[in-house]
Amino acid sequence: MRILAIESSCDESAAAILDAGQGLLAHEIFSQIELHRIYGGVVPELASRDHVRRLLPLVKSAMAQANTGPEDLDGIAYTAGPGLIGALLTGASLARSLAYAWKLPSLGIHHLEGHLLAPLLEPEPPPFPHVALLVSGGHTMLIEVRGIGSYRVLGETRDDAAGEAFDKTAKLLGLPYPGGPELARLADQGAPGAFKFPRPMLDRPGLEFSFSGLKTAVLHALRGREMTDAIRADVAQGVQLAIVETLTAKALRALEQTGLDTLVVSGGVSANRSLRERLAEAVGREGARVYYPRIEFCTDNAAMIAVAGLARLAAGQHDGLAIQARARWPLESLQPVAR
Ligand code: KG4
Ligand code: ZN
Repeated sequence: MRILAIESSCDESAAAILDAGQGLLAHEIFSQIELHRIYGGVVPELASRDHVRRLLPLVKSAMAQANTGPEDLDGIAYTAGPGLIGALLTGASLARSLAYAWKLPSLGIHHLEGHLLAPLLEPEPPPFPHVALLVSGGHTMLIEVRGIGSYRVLGETRDDAAGEAFDKTAKLLGLPYPGGPELARLADQGAPGAFKFPRPMLDRPGLEFSFSGLKTAVLHALRGREMTDAIRADVAQGVQLAIVETLTAKALRALEQTGLDTLVVSGGVSANRSLRERLAEAVGREGARVYYPRIEFCTDNAAMIAVAGLARLAAGQHDGLAIQARARWPLESLQPVAR
């Protein structure tokens, strides 16, 4: 069984071909970061227009690389939400049109399910059930993953996502968009402990997060100070540590609450080296194990959409002829896949 997958929910256009027996045959990605950088964030209309330009060539190139024609495919998966509605529609209408022309079933996939299942592409995939810490630009969630499609949200952020907290504080430090990786690089040069920022909601029970206070804390710290390179690096160090410690502590709490001993970390922020180091140490101490996608599959890609699509297609699921696109879509409403 072989599937083509298309991702276009935000500012990455991507296509991938996944085969049940042979694994990932091709994956192509075009990042729009340069296009949006001068605006300091993603401009939805520009994103949609660029997806229209990029997606079909990416699909063609992935199919050529995988030596795959339409007759070799068993279905087409695409990201149906959540995300920017215009951007989603470009991928959804392309996927549905190809499926119609090639007489193939199609599947609208939940973007976060893609992130959650990305580690299944690795040689040593995580076992089910497990706890997932999903940390991206739009979401920060702890999820009990009982199996594919069976998700229980244990806690999430009340305001800013972890990636958003990285991006917004990076902006205050004058770093270019997207600020997460830039802030992480700067933090390496900072002196540990020079600035201590609040660990939001760490002192309270439960698994909720709140990161919006960090921006204000950084603004206060910078007020009346000359923003030298050394100070910027020290602040970056403090911000990263506050986010990483909060995520680590709550992830441990979720393992303890569920009694599970496997943690999966995915989404853009799971590429953060400091987070990986701290989690490895903390989770190891508890006798549990932590799994990640490879770095290139932490951020948005089509390979992860293919994983979710193939699992669902193999279980006999697919959609009708309608184009599916939803800006909002609760993860818990998905149909479970029997394994
Ligand atoms: O999963 P993703 O590519 O897109 C969404 O679905 O949101 O995540 C993007 C987010 C951005 O906020 C970006 O700054 C953050 O992930 N990010 C990082 C790192 N790499 C990406 N944050 C901290 N450290 C990194 N190394
Ligand atoms: Zn994403």
